[in-house]
Amino acid sequence: MNPIGELSLVVLISGGGSNLQAIIDEAAEDLPVDIRAVISNQPGAFGLERARKAGIETRVLNHKDFPDRTSYDRALGDLVASWDPGLVVLAGFMRILTPDFIQRFPYRMVNIHPSLLPKYRGLHTHQRALDAGDSRHGASVHFVTEELDGGPVILQAMVPVIPGDDADTLAARVLKQEHVIYPRVIRWIAEGRTSMGEEQVLMDGRRLDTPIVLDSSGTPGK
Ligand code: GAR
Repeated sequence: MNPIGELSLVVLISGGGSNLQAIIDEAAEDLPVDIRAVISNQPGAFGLERARKAGIETRVLNHKDFPDRTSYDRALGDLVASWDPGLVVLAGFMRILTPDFIQRFPYRMVNIHPSLLPKYRGLHTHQRALDAGDSRHGASVHFVTEELDGGPVILQAMVPVIPGDDADTLAARVLKQEHVIYPRVIRWIAEGRTSMGEEQVLMDGRRLDTPIVLDSSGTPGK
């Protein structure tokens, strides 16, 4: 079923899929989305089970079955496009995407990254925040551009770094907030409140120059 007014999604995952679950849970309430498919590059990703349990179509496209990144991304692009999604959602998809792939879904792809971008693009973000002695850490939802973890950030959640934290405790605190901010941004996009164009990101008809920030209680920060 895809009633007019729902935003169609294809979600890409590689692992546990807890962000996917947050989206599924809100879709079961009042998030106006139609999750058409979940695709994983990892055959054993637990997120695939979450999707099946929710009655969502799943596919595995294992990167190990392809000779190179270009051919994998071409096949992935074809697969994603076969559902004609209004939005491609990267939810813990742990692969660098080629410009060719990204250009197939212009302004129609979002990612969640476990840091307060532009800090700590790439991997091991929690350990890097600890090593730097940061007192605050968090997660960011951004539109995807060809620059790795470099597209415009829409919404961030900030959490405190607490004495005694290790990368796992910090990651768990951040992940809890990811489950708040990712469905929220998807809602804004579905409702037409947020969009990206060639020049800018719009939020409620205004240019969004700096990300919106939530503090760790989920209430608006600055
Ligand atoms: C999340 O923390 C997400 O921010 C991160 O992977 C985790 C996936 O968790 N993504 C990245 O690091 C992307 N560069 P999940 O599978 O439980 O949603």
